[in-house]
Amino acid sequence: MQPFTFYNPVELVAGPGTFEQLGEKVAKLGCQAMLVTGRNAMRKAGYLDRALQMLTDAGVQCVLFDKAIPNPTDELADEGGRLARETNCNVVIGLGGGSAMDTAKAIAVAATHSQPIAEFLVSGPYGQPRIPSAATLPIVCVTTTAGTSSQLTPFAVATVTATRQKNAIAGRNIYPRVAICDPTLTMSVPPRITAACGIDVLCHSIETFINTMTQPLAEAFAQRAISLVAEYLPRAVADGQDAEARQMMSLADIFAGYALSNCGATVLHALEHPISALYPHVPHGEGLAAMLIAYGRMMPSRAPAKLARLAELLGEDVSGLSDEQAAGKAAAGLQALLEQVNLRLRLRDLGVEHESLPRIADDALDYMQRGIAKTPGKLTRDDLIALLEASY
Ligand SMILES: [Fe+2]
Repeated sequence: MQPFTFYNPVELVAGPGTFEQLGEKVAKLGCQAMLVTGRNAMRKAGYLDRALQMLTDAGVQCVLFDKAIPNPTDELADEGGRLARETNCNVVIGLGGGSAMDTAKAIAVAATHSQPIAEFLVSGPYGQPRIPSAATLPIVCVTTTAGTSSQLTPFAVATVTATRQKNAIAGRNIYPRVAICDPTLTMSVPPRITAACGIDVLCHSIETFINTMTQPLAEAFAQRAISLVAEYLPRAVADGQDAEARQMMSLADIFAGYALSNCGATVLHALEHPISALYPHVPHGEGLAAMLIAYGRMMPSRAPAKLARLAELLGEDVSGLSDEQAAGKAAAGLQALLEQVNLRLRLRDLGVEHESLPRIADDALDYMQRGIAKTPGKLTRDDLIALLEASY
């Protein structure tokens, strides 16, 4: 066994009804909160009004920033940071899916650092990315999807508008202080978004399991998450009111978050970030879904034992097979799951233009190099183009 470390300081509050603890958890951290959310979904579901009421009841004043968008930008975080500073906010709450939570985390940095948030996100012309300091405001995340695991990770993803690079702010100071994972909040998520978020959970799990930097705890969490997604995601997509399926998907999101927070992602995320940076209308989980089957076909020769285990976790019958034979079934398992959740897509279905594939590969090798490097087997530019072509 190789020596390893595992670190995750988030206070996890999970299970049905835990949303009701929001006021008391925030009140312990600050008296003036910025609540970050999107424009519509939380309001429509009644979660925004409930959150505001709970904060008032707990004696917390609230500044609302309801501008979070899918694939958030550095400009949005800078705007939110200025507002948080001007209104003397001393705690930031993210309420929603990954976009709202990542925006909240980026605002917590922007409010307390003089540099534009882009300097925390990119390399290249800015040199080494900055690491958020301990001045970062405390963050509370309430996730309303079983998706990005942002509530449990030290990452906040955003796109730099000027360069169209989608990268992550990373550092221990942006771990949320509290993560509230109440599966009842996920019951209002429509089927297509449920499916895309679930595929994101699956990719976080697969990429941390099949990762040259993996370690025993991450492997254990990732395997549990994969089997939960395989069993319960189709049910959650078919019937959003299936409470057991929603609870198990919330658990899968948590397990994947612990794995992701300690290993980071690999080639799928390294390619998907450039895709949704160039095509911001592409939902993250759908971009990943479009590449999953080709990934399942590319990886068996690079990590046969891991792919064999993946096939088994996805429910494929691998009894009596060698690792090489079983690994060959992983792609079929992935395909079957994507079909069950109506997300068997190709990149062309998402509006990605064929001539942009080389740029996507080049961007991945540029600013997502760390994810490429953690993928087993040395990946060349040709390998990346081949994966994209097979997904097109
Ligand atoms: Fe992701």
